[in-house]
Amino acid sequence: MDKSKVPVEQRAALSLLVDDHRSVKKLFKAFQESKNDAEKRSIASETCQQLTVHAQIEEEIFYPALRGASGKIDDMLDEAKVEHTVAKDLIAQIEAGTSEMLEAHYTVLTEYVGHHVEEEESELFPAVIRAKVDLRDVAQQLEARKAELTGQLA
Ligand SMILES: [Fe+2]
Ligand SMILES: [Fe+2]
Repeated sequence: MDKSKVPVEQRAALSLLVDDHRSVKKLFKAFQESKNDAEKRSIASETCQQLTVHAQIEEEIFYPALRGASGKIDDMLDEAKVEHTVAKDLIAQIEAGTSEMLEAHYTVLTEYVGHHVEEEESELFPAVIRAKVDLRDVAQQLEARKAELTGQLA
């Protein structure tokens, strides 16, 4: 999604989330390209941390701010919530799992999160823009909560 074309009421909030998506996608690519087990393990753990924080700020702040904006948005939020649950289950398996299973778990996570991110950026975010939801305060809340959670995990 082209951040410069997003109206100012939604720009900061959606940009923050899109930047998170880009960051995780870079990690997916780095994992795929790595030939080193220790490096793969460390990329996987960074991915899990970033996704955990991202899912949490969406669930605590972003999704609730969109609730009720339209029937279609509510349906997408229900679906997103289910998808987060599945992603979190995969994250838990990666964090607890054996190194033999890392490749398999991580590959499924890559595909699964890729699909979820695509839906957010191509369906949910445009719907939010069309519904003219004012997300300026939400952007600040997302940023503050992300900093707080990232600090706790570091
Ligand atoms: Fe999400
Ligand atoms: Fe997201």
